[in-house]
Amino acid sequence: MREQWEHFIAGKAVAPSGGQYLDSTNPTNGEHVTRIAAGDAADANAAVAAAKAAAAQWRAVPAMDRARLIIDIGRAVRANVDELAELEGLETGKPAFQRPMEVEGSARYFEFYGGLVHTLGGETLVQDPSVHSYTVREPFGVVGIITPWNAPLNQAARGIAPALAAGNTIVAKPSEFTSTTTLRLAEIASEVGLPDGVLNVVTGTGPEAGAAIVEHPEVRKLAFTGSLRAGKEIGQVAADRILPLTLELGGKSPNLVFADADMSKAIPGALRGFVGNAGQVCSAGTRLLVEKSVHDDFVAALSQAAAGVKPGQMMGPMITQAQYEKVQEYFAIAKDEGAVAAAGGTLPEEPELEGGYFIPPTIYTGVRNDMRIAQEEIFGPVASVIPFSDEEEAIAIANDSQYGLVAGLWTQDISRAHRVAARLEAGQVFINEWLSGTVEHPFGGYKQSGYGREKGIEALHHYTQLKSITVRL
Ligand code: NAI
Ligand code: MG
Repeated sequence: MREQWEHFIAGKAVAPSGGQYLDSTNPTNGEHVTRIAAGDAADANAAVAAAKAAAAQWRAVPAMDRARLIIDIGRAVRANVDELAELEGLETGKPAFQRPMEVEGSARYFEFYGGLVHTLGGETLVQDPSVHSYTVREPFGVVGIITPWNAPLNQAARGIAPALAAGNTIVAKPSEFTSTTTLRLAEIASEVGLPDGVLNVVTGTGPEAGAAIVEHPEVRKLAFTGSLRAGKEIGQVAADRILPLTLELGGKSPNLVFADADMSKAIPGALRGFVGNAGQVCSAGTRLLVEKSVHDDFVAALSQAAAGVKPGQMMGPMITQAQYEKVQEYFAIAKDEGAVAAAGGTLPEEPELEGGYFIPPTIYTGVRNDMRIAQEEIFGPVASVIPFSDEEEAIAIANDSQYGLVAGLWTQDISRAHRVAARLEAGQVFINEWLSGTVEHPFGGYKQSGYGREKGIEALHHYTQLKSITVRL
């Protein structure tokens, strides 16, 4: 690991104008990892200027060449898997088995969107024979991409790949806790031939580096992934500037288990839904709605399965101390609210986990949907089990949430599966599956989980603006 990381602006490392750096820490043991540039408005301005200067050249690159270059970035990401996995591991504490998967998932964004460059056509509009009308999709120019700490490389790739494919230039701001893989990604892109200034990375805190990007008048589109709180703040600034936004915020996603579900799949699926990435996933399935007749058996089996998910081996730590403390606050809240921990609910006792921000898989029963532990995003491996009597009640509980990111349901009744899926207020629904990490499926929220879509062809379109052109013949 380098001792220090600078911004990446116009194709090279640039020291922070204020000369300040932030410490980055390994959450598995609290040890110092590296220092990253603490960016401010001057650094953001320099990055936006570089992106603006590169915009005309980048949008004029022929589709075939742009596609090839983006796919080449994906290949180079994969070729650098060991280094990227190591950087990601040091800053996030993700377990060893998970790190290469994160890199692989990131590479796929470039391959997928590189392949989609050629789909960026418009339509011919039929009006009358004396008029020829058509639409074209144009890049915005400079786009800002602000990402969080739970899947740093992946979330960076998820925004950068479609933004590049659409012909935009970029100022990316990773989380101050996990900046190195996004910086390295920009270097790798540059090494394979991405022109200087097309992808710039400014590091630093949200209120300083992040806010300066959101406020910059030359940033014409912004994609943000993170907390509802920051999303609202950004939304207020954006409203004033009429800045188009994609907001990917939190979730409290319901996972409905009907009595007729194939439990051999529903139990591991439900577990995966809330312990994956130690629950630090916006789309985690943290409200487990279980039909009453199978509730007790389900909880017993799920708790037994959860006991096999060892923190430190299968699950990394909470990425920051603040996050670690936040989860423990919810342990106290759960207790106050009268919930019962069927698993977890206390800190792990293994001596080898000492000094790390580890939380065991935690399953609460006796939860009502109006409790805070059922309504608020905890962002740790914590599930609330809520019983229901019938389909109608299950849907009502599922939709009784400020969030609407993802929902899941487990049943062998195919009619019920589609009937319920249609009524769940969520941007993505899984039936007899709980997935994350796909590139092809449009992803994004209903309600306060956000708006706009990441992934899929949708995201590519969100990084374009549509122009309609009419010629009088
Ligand atoms: P955060 O929302 O503060 O941070 C996410 C990113 O936004 C970081 O890059 C940060 O520097 C930046 N940022 C923060 N405030 C900003 C502002 N005013 N203007 C511009 N950029 C800004 O997330 P935080 O505080 O670290 O996590 C708190 C909670 O947020 C978590 O416990 C979880 O509930 C939720 N969260 C959701 C995520 C998701 O994937 N949707 C990811 C991370 C957190
Ligand atoms: Mg914050």
